[in-house]
Amino acid sequence: MNTAPLFRPQTTTRRKLPVPTRLLRTRFNPSFPASTSMFSESTFPRAVLVLVAISISALILYGAADSLRFNSSSSGYPFNIFPSHRYSNNSGSSNSDPKLSINDDDGGGGGDDDYKLEKVLKEAAMEDKTVIIATLNEAWAAPNTIIDLFLESFRTGQGTRRLLNHLVIVALDRKAYRRCMEFHAHCFALVTEGLDFHDEAYFMTPAYLEMMWRRIDLLRSVLQMGYNFVFTDADIMWFRDPFPRFYLDADFQIACDHFLGNSSDVQNRPNGGFNYVKSNNRTIEFYKFWYSSRETYPGYHDQDVLNFIKFDPFIEDLGLKMRFLDTAFFGGLCEPSKDLNLVCTMHANCCYGLDSKLHDLRIMLQDWKFFLSLPPTLKRSSSMLWRVPQNCRLGKHPLIACLNFTI
Ligand SMILES: *[C@@H]1O[C@H](CO)[C@@H](O)[C@H](O)[C@H]1NC(C)=O
Ligand SMILES: *[C@@H]1O[C@H](CO)[C@@H](O)[C@H](O)[C@H]1NC(C)=O
Ligand SMILES: *[C@@H]1O[C@H](CO)[C@@H](O)[C@H](O)[C@H]1NC(C)=O
Repeated sequence: MNTAPLFRPQTTTRRKLPVPTRLLRTRFNPSFPASTSMFSESTFPRAVLVLVAISISALILYGAADSLRFNSSSSGYPFNIFPSHRYSNNSGSSNSDPKLSINDDDGGGGGDDDYKLEKVLKEAAMEDKTVIIATLNEAWAAPNTIIDLFLESFRTGQGTRRLLNHLVIVALDRKAYRRCMEFHAHCFALVTEGLDFHDEAYFMTPAYLEMMWRRIDLLRSVLQMGYNFVFTDADIMWFRDPFPRFYLDADFQIACDHFLGNSSDVQNRPNGGFNYVKSNNRTIEFYKFWYSSRETYPGYHDQDVLNFIKFDPFIEDLGLKMRFLDTAFFGGLCEPSKDLNLVCTMHANCCYGLDSKLHDLRIMLQDWKFFLSLPPTLKRSSSMLWRVPQNCRLGKHPLIACLNFTI
């Protein structure tokens, strides 16, 4: 178990995905590999595949006929944002009263949401009004799971520990919120009444899509309140302070599953799990446009829609400066950072299943710690590479390899 990371020749790191898997993944990976070829090829057969895969996943994973009912209406679910504040007493309680635990300071009237959101942001923000935002659900919040690895990466990373002071964890359900309050100062519940997002099996259900879109809407609110943000999935390890690697002139910068070499090229395959967005009129309009585009592409995930609209002339008209971040600094299991002297973040993208994710993330953290333990000269000359992906290799689950669950 404790074997040292392998020193492999760099040429062996690229993995080729089987074509059919890759094709399906472009629609189902919530970490959004771009489907850039969609405009040049027939979309109809793919649309059929998409529908088939949705049906299969729904049948396999939920076995409930009503999971198949897609509701793309934008209304319907009341939306509450609860503030972070320590409970006087309810840790460990498992009461099921939806209002009691989270929102115990007032009636939870929707009109207060903005005020509450602003309060949490203010407490967490850096001097230049930048916050780091991560989302969390119950499955990822459980002890010894994703969230613990996420936080551990901040604590062991270079220049990342202080960033925890600026991290706002947005809990998607009550259990995640309670857990967050046990270990973090800036927690915040984004609860959609009537929906429960507590485990990963809800992926791509109407409820899941609704939640993802709520997230876009929340981030729009954050921008409108004048806060810049780095949004990060919790299955991203923070090994170095990313801020020195961001472009100074960009409005919206986003990590990639596959980086093609030019940070301005919209053909890059963005991954919405990590982005840095400055608050200004252009980004606010962009987020409104993105959110409203769910009507244009009903049934699609926010990141799929991003891949559609990134070519839209509207974005050029806005003057939005969009940049794609190099996987040399912002890598992932799809395309690992090749030099541990440069890596800022590593994402467990291209990965199906929570267990696989946990397994590979743990190894990733071990690799990082081993690298840190090397003497400086060895570090610099090191050609050390990650021992992952292992369990996250696609194709391990033939039937559902196309359903790449992340939240
Ligand atoms: C919380 O309050 C309940 C009664 O409402 C009590 O039984 C319990 O011991 C309290 N827990 C803590 C940690 O104070
Ligand atoms: C990068 O892409 C942009 C936009 O497609 C293009 O204008 C620019 O010339 C490219 N830069 C290089 C060095 O290829
Ligand atoms: C946005 O545009 C308005 C005018 O349309 C301007 O008054 C305001 O200062 C701008 N805000 C930002 C953050 O640029």
